[in-house]
Amino acid sequence: MTSLTGIWQVFGPDCQFANIQFFFVLSDFFFVQVWIFCYFCNMADIREEIVVADSLRDALEMQAQGFVTHALCECERCVSDALSVGYRLVDTAQAYANEEGVGNAWRKSGLKREDLFLVTKVWISNAGEERAARSIDESLRKLQTDYIDLLLIHQAYGDVFGTWRAMERAYRDGKVRAIGVSNFQAGRFFDFAHYVDVKPMVNQLQCNTLIQQTAIEPLLAQFGTRMMAWGPLGGQGVDGVVKSAELSAIGNNYGKSAAQVALRWLTQRGIVAIPKSTHKERMAQNLDVFDFRLTDSEMAQIATMNQHDTGTINFGDPQFVKHLIENYG
Ligand SMILES: NC(=O)c1ccc[n+]([C@@H]2O[C@H](COP(=O)([O-])OP(=O)(O)OC[C@H]3O[C@@H](n4cnc5c(N)ncnc54)[C@H](OP(=O)(O)O)[C@@H]3O)[C@@H](O)[C@H]2O)c1
Repeated sequence: MTSLTGIWQVFGPDCQFANIQFFFVLSDFFFVQVWIFCYFCNMADIREEIVVADSLRDALEMQAQGFVTHALCECERCVSDALSVGYRLVDTAQAYANEEGVGNAWRKSGLKREDLFLVTKVWISNAGEERAARSIDESLRKLQTDYIDLLLIHQAYGDVFGTWRAMERAYRDGKVRAIGVSNFQAGRFFDFAHYVDVKPMVNQLQCNTLIQQTAIEPLLAQFGTRMMAWGPLGGQGVDGVVKSAELSAIGNNYGKSAAQVALRWLTQRGIVAIPKSTHKERMAQNLDVFDFRLTDSEMAQIATMNQHDTGTINFGDPQFVKHLIENYG
């Protein structure tokens, strides 16, 4: 039934197609019909939101694309620009030390809280039930809100089960609308998801045309977990995605850039992308990916570009783990 609720949230009670809401109660079969209806009406933006909203267990509505604030020196200015060009999902983290900037930008934007989707993450130094619970209250204070739309465990280290219990409690208390994890690679993800009570609704992973994260997909599907892609354009100083001649050639068919093709490819896989940019025109460009559709053969062509399926960071490397624990644990 989640897909029905997802559709309901996308169309909502103010939907201009209110007469079709009647059909939603009949069966999930109508999900497919409405999707086809949208396809022929070229309502690409709405279609994408349906696909995304469908996955969240609590029928949470999530934008198909968001704006990440990692390492932004001018966080408040960048988030203000992002909101002004149309982003509504903003991704931050306790470790980015910019939750206040996100909260300020939202307050100054004049947007209603319900029109914004705020994502933040519990850092390793706040791992464990009590510390995580305190840190959630601190994040709420910094973000100047009384609920977080999606809260993630940032890294799979420290007392993650204790952290999760605090997150489950916050979820049940209404302080958080959805909970998930980040950087949980396949084995770690399975072990964690198997044992926890509320299953992770999202796993935020490094994912782009060169790092496709295909191996973990069946595991995520098994637990109904949606993938969110960080580094969707390859990250800072990496031109393999945004300067790809192959992606540019595909983009020429639609008057789009390589970056737009890369983001569109993620969206068509049902993955929520959170690109980052300090430039307003690029922010707008990165959001302008809902008026074209890659063909099956273009999707297959891009699938052949995969180079490191699980990402460029080995989260199991003892040196990496030691560094994180010694510095933040
Ligand atoms: N959960 C996590 O652990 C997590 C989550 C998010 C980020 N991160 C961290 O973030 C880093 C990479 O993420 P990211 O957010 O920087 O990656 P990204 O969104 O893939 O790439 C951002 C880079 O692409 C450029 N760019 C943006 N739009 C563009 C466009 N349309 N055309 C050409 N270039 C464009 C930006 O430059 P301009 O600013 O100049 O436009 C920036 O240098 C990693 O180091 C990772 O540690 C981690």
